[in-house]
Amino acid sequence: MRIAVIGSGYVGLVSAACFAEIGHDVIAVDNNNAKIELLESGGVPIHEEFLPALLTRNHRNRLQYSTSITEAVKKADVVFITVGTPPSATGEADLSYVEAAASEIAQAIDVRKIVVEKSTVPVRTCDWLRRSLVLNGADHEMFSVASNPEFLREGTAVRDFLYPDRIVIGVDDSLSSAALQAIYEPLTSGRYYKQSGVIPPPSDTAILKAKIIVTNAKSAEFIKHASNAFLAMKISFANAVANVAECVGADISQVCAGVGSDSRIGPRFLNAGIGYGGSCFPKDVQAFHAVANSCGYRFGLLDEVMKINLEQRRYFLDKIRGALWTIRGKKLAVLGLAFKGETDDVRESPAIEIIKSLIAEGAQIRAFDPVATKNAKELLPSEGIFYEENPYSAATGSDALLILTEWREFASLDLRKLRHLLKYPIVIDGRNLYDPCEVAKAGLIYYSVGRAVAAPTGTAHELADIGDRKPKNSSLAHSFVSA
Ligand code: NAD
Ligand code: UGA
Repeated sequence: MRIAVIGSGYVGLVSAACFAEIGHDVIAVDNNNAKIELLESGGVPIHEEFLPALLTRNHRNRLQYSTSITEAVKKADVVFITVGTPPSATGEADLSYVEAAASEIAQAIDVRKIVVEKSTVPVRTCDWLRRSLVLNGADHEMFSVASNPEFLREGTAVRDFLYPDRIVIGVDDSLSSAALQAIYEPLTSGRYYKQSGVIPPPSDTAILKAKIIVTNAKSAEFIKHASNAFLAMKISFANAVANVAECVGADISQVCAGVGSDSRIGPRFLNAGIGYGGSCFPKDVQAFHAVANSCGYRFGLLDEVMKINLEQRRYFLDKIRGALWTIRGKKLAVLGLAFKGETDDVRESPAIEIIKSLIAEGAQIRAFDPVATKNAKELLPSEGIFYEENPYSAATGSDALLILTEWREFASLDLRKLRHLLKYPIVIDGRNLYDPCEVAKAGLIYYSVGRAVAAPTGTAHELADIGDRKPKNSSLAHSFVSA
């Protein structure tokens, strides 16, 4: 199949590379000239495991790049739209990038095309897309519109695309249905997985054939929003339970392992921490809420999901204050700037917001992130922060170490070495990466989320439990009382 992908960001570039990988002829388009020039020269604009290998082996073979939507549409049978859909000031999805792409696509339609929305969009966008294509000059008999929402996660995007839990296609006509099923056939038949040299499956996957769900366009659009809202709700639920667990002396990691062992609940996305971030959950929960609002339904559950998420950052800042007493003048080592591990994406990163608050309170930040530093510099103030080469240089002479992103490499640090490098033996972990006893054994006082403070044996009472936050002593007490 000949495919055009409009928008070469996290979703578009990964989709284009994976479509080429499973045998299609693909043109990836972006209106950012610098991005296309970089790709043409063999560069990779985002950090994503396996993406460099896929781009290298498919570029100039089955994968081309272009800045021209017209050229790409004319050469394609199926056109995927993967441009951004950021939040507007009112929380609704801003679909102006989709509309701009649609208007250019419309003008290039000469023979029959299938236009597929892969960007995350509110229900009924397919209808708006059809209308926009006609208004911009496309003959209504010359195109079909379909929905094919994308469920990949940043950091594991290539594997998520090639080894999906499910592929959802929302089709309102047989032509789109046949075309989209043909595009994904190498995955749904399992043919791709039998080839040699393919991208290896994740260790917990025994996938032989990808599952495909065929539904209508509106339901597909709805599945995407409802899925992200549910996952965000799961995280906020875990965070709310963590706050109570910490108060009563239960351990949230053990609680969630126990709760998640029920196959009706499942263990994933129950990790308590500093709240969800990224370019997706925050905007998609808001956008889904706005869809409900437009139907006259007040989706109060989602209000609470968003509220808990924001409170979680404030609660973590309270925890830092509880551990350090005062912030002004403190040198704080910070591990993690990205919104989650294994990505360079800092959009809506809770780490960035926490750092900004600490700088505003007068702390000196010494930050390290394996790949997100360049992007983070664009969002953080230039004063009050130094960027370090590794976790140990950040820790050297610092008053405490904070863990703000769940990078795999932050879960296996040399704790004894950290103990010697830090000025004070204090670690405040917003991602619960360690067994508290292990950290305490290394001589560190360890604060995490939804678990008791762990201190080395023999630590003086004055050192170990003064920061052991109880709701009555913190701003959280207020939210308990007022809730
Ligand atoms: P992104 O910002 O990384 O990429 C969007 C790209 O589109 C940019 O490179 C931009 O230059 C380009 N673009 C914008 N207008 C264009 C136009 N008229 N012509 C050509 N190129 C244009 O965004 P993203 O993270 O890839 O997200 C894209 C969509 O996919 C969003 O709706 C998002 O919600 C959804 N989504 C994202 C993820 C994710 O993990 N990032 C996962 C699933 C779905
Ligand atoms: C999320 C969804 O997981 C994808 O399925 C979806 O395609 C994508 O949004 C999207 O629609 O754009 P992503 O934002 O890349 O993917 O990352 P996640 O792994 O979902 O993490 C989101 C945030 O939640 C991160 O800040 C992460 O640290 C946080 N998180 C995640 C938790 O706090 N606890 C958890 O248990 C899991």
